[in-house]
Amino acid sequence: MRESMTLIKQGAEAKIYEGDFYNRPCIMKERFIKAYRHECLDRSLTQQRLKSEVRAMLRCRMKGISTPTVFSTDLDHGIIIMEKIENAVTIQEYIDSCKQKSPGALNDVMTKIGEIIGLMHNNNIIHGDLTSSNILLRGPASDLDLVFIDFGLSHFENNAEDKGVDLYVLERALLSTHPELDSLFESILNGYKSGNGAGYQEVMLKLEEVRLRGRKRTMVG
Ligand SMILES: Nc1ncnc2c1ncn2[C@@H]1O[C@H](COP(=O)(O)OP(=O)(O)OP(=O)(O)O)[C@@H](O)[C@H]1O
Ligand SMILES: [Mg+2]
Repeated sequence: MRESMTLIKQGAEAKIYEGDFYNRPCIMKERFIKAYRHECLDRSLTQQRLKSEVRAMLRCRMKGISTPTVFSTDLDHGIIIMEKIENAVTIQEYIDSCKQKSPGALNDVMTKIGEIIGLMHNNNIIHGDLTSSNILLRGPASDLDLVFIDFGLSHFENNAEDKGVDLYVLERALLSTHPELDSLFESILNGYKSGNGAGYQEVMLKLEEVRLRGRKRTMVG
């Protein structure tokens, strides 16, 4: 299988290949063994991540949140083969492309992202690694067709703290990649409120707590 695939990205944890799976465009994600980690521990960590990823992708789809269809998995080799989302860019790429032209156009996309994260949290799905490269925008921006990926650190938890941390991770990620666009996260929170109305207040309090802890840590060094 791997022989007919083309390597397109090599991350810290995984290699990403693209190719065909029975004539359907696919992405193969292979988490490799790290030499510096104990082999047994590594194997079980890799398997846990793979299982979390597949489980969360399925749960999201059942709740109407778009994620790639899983075509096949090979637990022993840390491999997932999934649908390739075509005609898509990462949100990071989209933000970069909008920055010069029309920063205002970003608002609707960010609000929609917040709404979907709200829906995820309302269903107790914690993504675990929300960044602008783990959200894809498919087709024209006006379609607001967003696809979430990279669920290896996800878990299920009905707890405002975990939801607050999930949002905080995204806030930090956006501030580090796009520091000049400080209204991005505000739009996300606006959308979040409509996706997770019931839990909104409690999660906002936790988010504020987590931010304060973060600031203290930075001051201490
Ligand atoms: N199903 C998919 N369709 C289209 N592009 C994808 C798909 N899955 C991944 N990609 C592309 O590959 C990139 C990396 O994928 P992903 O985020 O899953 O891996 P990673 O960040 O290396 O994972 P990990 O966090 O496990 O190290 C994405 O940012 C996206 O550009
Ligand atoms: Mg990623």
